[in-house]
Amino acid sequence: AHWAPPLQHITHRYVGSAVTPAHLAERDYRAVLTREFDSVTPENELKWETLEATRGQYDWSGADELVRYAKKHRKSMRGHTLVWHSQLPTWVAELPADELRAVLRQHITTVVSRYRGKIRAWDVVNEAFNEDGTRRDTVFQQKLGDGYIADAFRWAHQADPSAKLYINDYNVEGVNPKSDATYELVRSLRKQGVPIHGMGIQAHLSIEYGFPTGYRENLKRFGALGVDVALTEADVRMPLPPDDAKLATQAQYFKELWDGCHATRRCVEFTTWGFTDRHSWVPGWFPGEGAACLFDENMRPKPAYRAINP
Ligand code: G3I
Repeated sequence: AHWAPPLQHITHRYVGSAVTPAHLAERDYRAVLTREFDSVTPENELKWETLEATRGQYDWSGADELVRYAKKHRKSMRGHTLVWHSQLPTWVAELPADELRAVLRQHITTVVSRYRGKIRAWDVVNEAFNEDGTRRDTVFQQKLGDGYIADAFRWAHQADPSAKLYINDYNVEGVNPKSDATYELVRSLRKQGVPIHGMGIQAHLSIEYGFPTGYRENLKRFGALGVDVALTEADVRMPLPPDDAKLATQAQYFKELWDGCHATRRCVEFTTWGFTDRHSWVPGWFPGEGAACLFDENMRPKPAYRAINP
């Protein structure tokens, strides 16, 4: 038993988690999610590959299931993600430029319209930059050129004028060439009147790499552009197995992520990429690493949770 109030009650920010709807059948998973969080992001269910693996054949089942959960429990929803080079159906990647542009527009319009009024914020464009600040060489960049980003935001805005539209990326927590380039893009899009409303900072951290330099300064500079800032996918991985020292370092990292958000007026959301070590993406992607979440595999709050919510 623990006596702290739920996370969602100790802050005025949205506190979210990525959710795989199939896991909602686990009673303890569902109970902790419902108690602690007030926003949910489908982990894979709104990605193009999930929605339309075969051209013209949509599968909305996973996303719709989470929308029903969110409605029932009055949770806010973050949509992830409309334009991403990964988890992209091969049929899309193979299209010639003119058709790709039309199909991308149709995709954005279809998905955003379907969930109009139900999804508070969208990760419109995900992971568009390289670490050195150049544009990532994706099919969108190659075939549509720099302008695809502005177009994507305009199309999404037409489909749901009240949704908050974000650009989202990893390794942009601190001040570095990638966050600099993203900052310059957001600044220039705002100047041109492109409907971009937020900077999504994934925050996939590792205790082995040190806490990102200039984190608070970075949040502040984006806020000063007049956009919201959201931590969209926070987790802090470590080499397995966890021990007290590693868990203490993880707790410091999570606390600084949390406190930095709360020190920034425009930081409106703190979302983690899963909340339990039972179901994290980390071990599958970084063999030998894991334990990246606020709750352990038995749904017990870890030191990181206690650090945020003492
Ligand atoms: O759907 C198949 C399933 O049919 C099959 O049985 C299973 C066997 O491996 O694979 C399933 O697909 C997996 C999918 O997740 C759904 O579980 C893919 O292999 C797997 O690659 C995919 O991983 C996701 C990853 O994005 C893909 O890039 C992770 O769950 C998801 O957490 C991760 O999320 C990303 C964000 O979208 C963007 N930022 C980084 C973050 C972490 O990589």
